[in-house]
Amino acid sequence: MFNPVRALAVCALALASFGAATALADEPILIKFSHVVADGTPKGQGALMFKQLVEERLGGKVKVEVYPNSSLYGDANELEALRNNEVQLLAPSLAKFDQYTKQLQVFDLPFLFDDLEAVNRFQKRAKGRQLLRSMEDHNIVGLAYWHNGMKQLSATRALHSPGDANGLSFRIQPSAVLEAQFKQIGANSQKLPFAEVFKALQSGQVQGAENPWSNIYSQKLHEVQPFISETNHGVLDYMLVSNSRFWYGIPHQVRVELEAIIDEVTYVVNKQAEAANQTDRQRIADSGKSQLITLTPEQRQAWRDAMRPVWEQFEGQIGSDVLKAAEAVNRKQRK
Ligand code: LMR
Repeated sequence: MFNPVRALAVCALALASFGAATALADEPILIKFSHVVADGTPKGQGALMFKQLVEERLGGKVKVEVYPNSSLYGDANELEALRNNEVQLLAPSLAKFDQYTKQLQVFDLPFLFDDLEAVNRFQKRAKGRQLLRSMEDHNIVGLAYWHNGMKQLSATRALHSPGDANGLSFRIQPSAVLEAQFKQIGANSQKLPFAEVFKALQSGQVQGAENPWSNIYSQKLHEVQPFISETNHGVLDYMLVSNSRFWYGIPHQVRVELEAIIDEVTYVVNKQAEAANQTDRQRIADSGKSQLITLTPEQRQAWRDAMRPVWEQFEGQIGSDVLKAAEAVNRKQRK
């Protein structure tokens, strides 16, 4: 039998839920972008530029919140938070994906890439592009590569030859390749989150580290490392990643616009990263707090020879196709 009171209640409920759905549909999509470095670094600048362009072009539809300096998530938990959709964008260093794919370890191999230009060529070629998709089984999609720069070795001792590092303990990112690299020169290593590096060096828990100039300068590591050898022995670059389900769930037109913004930001970050690192190198030199050691070609070759066996050690895990494609991007004749 028709019950007017009940009918009214059902109508009210239906209207209320429609209202809620409309309100939800009108809410901007929230993208939390968390990272572990300072705003002034290549990655920090990229995150801020992404936020600015999204606000200019997609304001009202998408909102971006940037959390630098491990203020929301740090190395220990950020990828898990991304997979749980608690944060939607990260740009971890390529050394931090070990747990999800072994192929990206190629970027950690010492003395593989001659310079950032070579890294850039590899990232743009088919094999490099393929690696952006290497973690989709884990709900992680790679959207772009962002440069930081080549790594330098800092320590409490002047490091001219590999033997000088003997017995020292170096802070490393969580990468088996980096662990093997230091073992190769008779040194020890400790995997520590980026946020703990300054303290670990200051307290003497570790005596050395490897970082690009921008990270050394922005974390003031040169104040607690009296020597920095300009080894350029490896690369520290990033993959901008999102949660696959979140990313592909964004309405198509909005996603296309976001991807165009990412392309634009990537272009600028990658174009400016080298210069930003050189500026920070100069600031460190000018500070007088750390002595910069330039290696002769023979000295650099000695480091290369000492660390090179690591390639064979990891070739099986990385895949020889990936390793060959990476080697092919160098332009210089090498041994
Ligand atoms: C590090 O842990 O040394 C780097 O990955 C930090 C960063 O994001 O540049």
